[in-house]
Amino acid sequence: MTLTPTDLAPLTFAVTKNLAAKSPAERDEILANPGFGTNFTDHMVDVCWSAKGGWHRPRVQPYGPISLDPAAAVLHYGQEIFEGIKAYRHADGSIHTFRPLENARRLQRSARRMALPELPEEYFLQSLRELIAVDGAWVPGGDDQSLYLRPFMFAKEAFLGVRPAQKVAYYLIASPAGAYFKGGVTPVKIWLSEDYARAGKGGTGAAKTGGNYAASLLPQAQAHEQGCDQVVFLDEDGNVEELGGMNVLFVMKDGTIVTPQSPSILAGITRESILQLAKDRGHRVEQRPVSLAEWREGVASGDIVEVFACGTAAVVTPIGVLKTATFEDVQPTGTLALELRQHLTDIQYGRAEDTHGWLERLDG
Ligand code: PLP
Ligand code: COI
Repeated sequence: MTLTPTDLAPLTFAVTKNLAAKSPAERDEILANPGFGTNFTDHMVDVCWSAKGGWHRPRVQPYGPISLDPAAAVLHYGQEIFEGIKAYRHADGSIHTFRPLENARRLQRSARRMALPELPEEYFLQSLRELIAVDGAWVPGGDDQSLYLRPFMFAKEAFLGVRPAQKVAYYLIASPAGAYFKGGVTPVKIWLSEDYARAGKGGTGAAKTGGNYAASLLPQAQAHEQGCDQVVFLDEDGNVEELGGMNVLFVMKDGTIVTPQSPSILAGITRESILQLAKDRGHRVEQRPVSLAEWREGVASGDIVEVFACGTAAVVTPIGVLKTATFEDVQPTGTLALELRQHLTDIQYGRAEDTHGWLERLDG
């Protein structure tokens, strides 16, 4: 991991312990079957920002409701960004995270697009360490389990005029996680949204901001009505973008891995890592526009031999079916997606050599 050298002094966090923290028995019960995103650890981190004072009042405090003025700009204009990153427990008990600088930098890019302040990389990393220092016991040790870390930032200034907020809050919460999809690693059914887009040219698609996910909820609900697990979106030219919360990749007959290139999709860290692991194995990789026609024709002709999606929450998931109102295409499945998933998770859980220096220890 390489931090840009700065002379930024570390923050000094004021730590308030949660006196109503879960008992070890209650915590173990949650960790035995964590699900995704419904249980939270005992503490959270927050840091304030103001145009006048910069980053200040770093705190670790008991997890709980946030008090907001009803006029807080985030509630009206959606000025908000977030990240998703996991902490993994290794066999020796140590706790590691994966490529945190990439998430720190993506949070900064999202901040620029959404006119929010950029949290320095050092503070981002420090916030992860501070939370693990108090809630490390919440990192589960079971197969495919992790502690999902959710950093987020929002406009808290009470002001109804439309301009970037002068007061902002950064928070970090954490949620123990098992499999994202109920069925585990089985091929998922994808609904192709023909009526709705997630993002547009010059929009906020490349930023990890709440509005993109709000825009995906109605098509996601339609997907569920159609018996599908996720939605895939196209751009206005009919090119494939991504799923609601994952990037999409195609394996070609000659072993080349192709993934959409577009200024309006989220640059996934899992995707970048999967492409690197594939290159290490000698696969060619291409980032370029992929039209829906190329996808369908490729599957029909046998030029495409596997289709899969990836992201932090769901890791790697084969796509088994692509469905719309007018067609339902069964997708070919192979072994490469699952091999790459295995290799990636072996690195994350400390079972395979971390040749790219992707892991960062968070405890101790
Ligand atoms: N695309 C979207 C819309 C996402 O929400 C995510 C998840 O974070 C991804 C792609 C994959 O990104 P990453 O691999 O960095 O988690
Ligand atoms: C992630 O994979 O981290 C995501 O953010 C996807 C979803 C939970 C929003």
